[in-house]
Amino acid sequence: MPKLTIDQREVEVPPGTTVLAAARQLGIEIPTLCHLDGCEPSTSCLVCVVKINGNARLAPACATAAEEGMRVESETEEVHAARRIALELLLSDHLGDCLAPC
Ligand code: FES
Repeated sequence: MPKLTIDQREVEVPPGTTVLAAARQLGIEIPTLCHLDGCEPSTSCLVCVVKINGNARLAPACATAAEEGMRVESETEEVHAARRIALELLLSDHLGDCLAPC
C-alpha cells in the first residue's frame, strides 16, 4: 500500500488509487470538472492539477496514481493559478451549449 503526503499530511492508500482519491481520503478537496467516479479519466479540464515531488510540470490528480513516497502539493499559489487559468480557458470557449439549464 503506497504511503504519500498531500499538503504535508500522510495517507496510505490501496495500489492504483489516484491522487484525487487519496486527497479525498484526507478530506482535502481538489476541484474537478471532467472527472466522474467509476469512469476512465479524460483529463480534459485540468482544474484538478497538483504539484508532485516538486516537479515543474503540474499533473492532473484525477489521472495520476498515488505512489510510495510521493509528495503532493494542492494548495499553493502556483497550483491555484494553474487551476484558474484552466478554468478561464474552458469558459472562454464556452458557447452555452449545455442541455441542462445552467
Ligand atoms: S478533473 Fe478534469 S482533468 Fe482532472
